[in-house]
Amino acid sequence: MGIKLGLGSRRALRASPILLAACLAAGCDRSDDSIPLTALDVSQPQGWADELAMPLAQDLNPDPNVLEIELEARVADIEILPGTTTPAWTYNGSVPGPMIRAKVGDRVIVHFKNSLPEETTIHWHGLRVPNEMDGAPGATQEPLATGGEFRYEFELKDAGTYWYHPHTDSSAQVGRGLYGAFIVDDPSDPEEFGDDLVMLMSDIGLDESGQLVPSDSGGNFGDLFGREGSVLLVNGKVLPTLMVRQGKQQRWRIINATRARYYNLRLRDHRFMRLGGDNGLAARSEDVYNLILTPGERADAVFTPADPPGTRNVLRWVPTERGYGSTYNRASEPMLEIETVAETPVIPEAIPAELRTIEPIDVSNAKHRTLDLTIAIASTVEMGVNGVPYWQAKPIEIALGDTEVWRIVNNTDFSHPFHLHGYFFQVLDENRVPEWKDTVNVPTKSEITIAVRFDERPGAWMYHCHILDHAEAGMMGHLVVRDPSAPHTAPPPAAHHHH
Ligand code: C2O
Ligand code: CU
Repeated sequence: MGIKLGLGSRRALRASPILLAACLAAGCDRSDDSIPLTALDVSQPQGWADELAMPLAQDLNPDPNVLEIELEARVADIEILPGTTTPAWTYNGSVPGPMIRAKVGDRVIVHFKNSLPEETTIHWHGLRVPNEMDGAPGATQEPLATGGEFRYEFELKDAGTYWYHPHTDSSAQVGRGLYGAFIVDDPSDPEEFGDDLVMLMSDIGLDESGQLVPSDSGGNFGDLFGREGSVLLVNGKVLPTLMVRQGKQQRWRIINATRARYYNLRLRDHRFMRLGGDNGLAARSEDVYNLILTPGERADAVFTPADPPGTRNVLRWVPTERGYGSTYNRASEPMLEIETVAETPVIPEAIPAELRTIEPIDVSNAKHRTLDLTIAIASTVEMGVNGVPYWQAKPIEIALGDTEVWRIVNNTDFSHPFHLHGYFFQVLDENRVPEWKDTVNVPTKSEITIAVRFDERPGAWMYHCHILDHAEAGMMGHLVVRDPSAPHTAPPPAAHHHH
């Protein structure tokens, strides 16, 4: 991964036998205030993240390099609003579904069963899986009918923070609770980043009695704006509490699993050290005031608690400008209570500035293309790319090994988070810290440029707006990467993998 570590010199010194000997001779006491403790000297407060615990997918395979799990999509009664029951759509009975966690290089086998009343598939958002494992109906697999089963199997090529969700009727299915975190660990990550905490942010549309609002609520305007759920959840909980100790760092891996909501996260009197996002670490760490995530996007950041012992603070969702009506007259909302325990503050560790070498993609021979994200409003709202909704679109043809530069243009009244399956891209913008991405915001009335190398895994891959209401309204398409040396150059058949 090319990670450069900068071990804090303070720790190196403290571990030195010479210092230790000097200390023994002089009679230093480790509890003496003259040697302040640093973040790595202490543990997190007891039960610090208990309220944020998510079920973990159970490994059925004894091989330490294979994670073999069972997932079942089914409707389950769960309590989201206190004292009410919501018939949520779940993986294995919980919202979010079980967290899948393994290390880079591991093999993952998922025995999936669809017990929903509708067809579904699973897409592994951001993971570079073989084409036939991508879970995209119409491109890589037939949707699984009720009772259908499918075995997904792939190798984890990249460390990072990912997630999984359905790819049929995705706005409705994700909106009802179908999503889960998928973390690929890199065991060589510096421990200075702090203890890892995964936070899957989602929202769900409920009435006061906990019933799901119709997934097409709001009609055309719902399609245009994207449907934000009324209840904000962190790891499935309404306003949970996280316990922290001043100075004791935590590495937050945040996933935006909503169908339409943008997040702008702020914590009073704090800044964050952003490490990266979609595909693990960025080139450099970056000191930021807020964390912004579009639907589908992830953030990886170090949080250094700075409040005095014995106080409380609140991580807030703040409205983000994403087009017409997105911030007007809207208040911020509390997401997560942060309780700073009454213990002596510790000195935070220094976070390395350089994190990873990210070579810029060579675009000297790249093919250039423009993708215009479009909205046509007639009796219904029809969205598309270059004016064509996905059900009429012809695939973009790409030769294996080609590099392409895409101008993604947005002249519409709403921002669109552009997502590409199968390949990471780089945003060509000198003002950004270089990093690999699979989802990026294209703000209203603007454009961005990305570079992609279609270097492996030929096949059909989707791209779409990750406001899932927009994707389902047509803002989606697919490309076909063809291997010119392969004997068959016909489009890959939609795989029939019913078992
Ligand atoms: Cu998060 Cu096409 O997907
Ligand atoms: Cu959109």
